[in-house]
Amino acid sequence: MTVLSGKTALVTGASSGLGVDFAQQLAAMGTNLILVARRIEKLEAVKQDIEKKYDVRVDLFPQDLTAPNAVETLYSAIQAAKLSVDVLINNAGFGLYGQFLDISWQNEKDMLTLDMFALTHLTKKFAKDMVQRGNGYILQVSSLAAYQPTPRYATYAAAKSYVLSFTEAFNYELKGTGVSCTALSPGVTATEFFDVSGQKPSLYQRFMIMKSEDVARIGLKAMLKRRGSVVPGFGNWLTAFLVRFVTRSTAAAFADRLMK
Ligand SMILES: NC(=O)c1ccc[n+]([C@@H]2O[C@H](COP(=O)([O-])OP(=O)(O)OC[C@H]3O[C@@H](n4cnc5c(N)ncnc54)[C@H](OP(=O)(O)O)[C@@H]3O)[C@@H](O)[C@H]2O)c1
Repeated sequence: MTVLSGKTALVTGASSGLGVDFAQQLAAMGTNLILVARRIEKLEAVKQDIEKKYDVRVDLFPQDLTAPNAVETLYSAIQAAKLSVDVLINNAGFGLYGQFLDISWQNEKDMLTLDMFALTHLTKKFAKDMVQRGNGYILQVSSLAAYQPTPRYATYAAAKSYVLSFTEAFNYELKGTGVSCTALSPGVTATEFFDVSGQKPSLYQRFMIMKSEDVARIGLKAMLKRRGSVVPGFGNWLTAFLVRFVTRSTAAAFADRLMK
């Protein structure tokens, strides 16, 4: 028995990478799952695998979270299915690698919509219900990129800074409610992230890479401890810690070097 046995977790971006590991690890704790992403066949495969291994209920809600009214649609569908969300894992997200002026506005807009607006809207909807019930956990996936301006990931890093700042502030507001909001800021993690962002990982990134299952485990542990924020891996933690001792323009220059 764990504190999450019999509870229900909504995991966004559950068709690949970190989302799959969050789903698998939550299922291992006896948590029922609501899985969201666009690729239905991938979600089906995750559901089948989890149901073979664990005695939990898995519901799929395929949804493009950048679509107009996506969050309202998803929230209504979950309510219609008479499911209540005890744990929200706001994991769906992607980055775009390249010079700001070379990236199309449509791609940029979709990224900001998913990484910031959908995450914030989902938090507003489900956190309200959790506070009313006096219990709940929220985990927001930010990034190590949140800690400094990052050339060639300029808007992605800015979006993740937003996620980090919003989460830490909201977690403070939640004190005494029985609900918490934790930011997980991974460094380079072995997922489909780089295929989507269009970057060939640099030497530094290949050296620093962590396993997705390890990152997910650290995130869930911090969430269950109701911490405001966690940076997984000693090297990543040290980077986030040391960056506060240099000017922001020096930090941007370092980030530029490490991304090449
Ligand atoms: N991997 C890294 O190095 C790294 C580092 C720091 C932070 N992160 C963050 O970690 C989170 C998870 O990413 P990942 O590394 O696991 O990459 P990933 O393997 O590419 O997974 C991204 C997930 O987001 C979903 N997604 C993308 N667009 C979506 C949309 N419009 N609507 C709904 N779902 C959508 C994808 O599913 P569909 O394509 O099926 O929709 C997929 O399940 C992201 O927030 C990312 O920014 C990753």
